[in-house]
Amino acid sequence: MIFPKLVTWDVWKRSGHAKGVYPEIYYVCPPKTRDPKFWEEVADYYKVTLEVPIDKIASKIDKPIGGLCYAQCPPFWPFLQGETLPDDGFPLLVFDRSGTSHRYESGGIHGMERVDEFHRIELVFMGTQEQVLAHSEEMQKKYMHIFNDILDLEWRMAWVTPWFMAQEGLTGLADKGSIGTIDYEAVMPYKDEWLEFQNLSVNGDKYPKGFNVKSQSNQELWSGCSGIGLERWASAFYAQKGPDPDNWPDAFNKIVGKLPDGIKFL
Ligand code: SER
Ligand code: ZN
Repeated sequence: MIFPKLVTWDVWKRSGHAKGVYPEIYYVCPPKTRDPKFWEEVADYYKVTLEVPIDKIASKIDKPIGGLCYAQCPPFWPFLQGETLPDDGFPLLVFDRSGTSHRYESGGIHGMERVDEFHRIELVFMGTQEQVLAHSEEMQKKYMHIFNDILDLEWRMAWVTPWFMAQEGLTGLADKGSIGTIDYEAVMPYKDEWLEFQNLSVNGDKYPKGFNVKSQSNQELWSGCSGIGLERWASAFYAQKGPDPDNWPDAFNKIVGKLPDGIKFL
């Protein structure tokens, strides 16, 4: 699927982000009007001075209708909102790699590891509690295979504050034992720190409940999601294996093949 990348307040109210995401979102404000006359003075100012009059622009844009994609999966849920799904449609598995995510990192940006715009594959799964837990376990095995047998990374798993709580401004762990987030972390040898490069979460009934999604037999629905940060994968891989393909693992090179020469600069 292609998840929306402009997230409006109605989504963040249901996902809980409206409780705490404000310092880190890139806000989206529409123009007060698309009447060219209203904007003429901005265009004229630029043509004469070659400076963009941002104060004038600020007075001509409306209040924010929401922000740019932050957590990726929340704006998927309005697609199911208010629906009842047949039991044989579970587990429901969704894949999205259509976008960018945006976070205002202020002074926190650093190389490829922490950026204001990043790419992530987002996997969402939904079903009964058993189905969601089973799918999470299956994915953990696949991830282990990729990180050990293909990327040959030094990595670890950490049980952390669930992302959906952290993004509401909460700390600690979820009440129910099996609900929560696993962070996958890789060691960054050049600074002896661990970097989170993806996560995998069981989100309990939070999203089906928040977006009023039901199953045919009225069984409690659970969901989970996993965000695979591509810049983070690259950071971890380059940090541990270096930029030279001769030093990359054979299993990885076999899949990737010979890379074309990059763009050259003088
Ligand atoms: N939605 C999850 C998060 O934001 C996984 O990408 O962490
Ligand atoms: Zn998610």
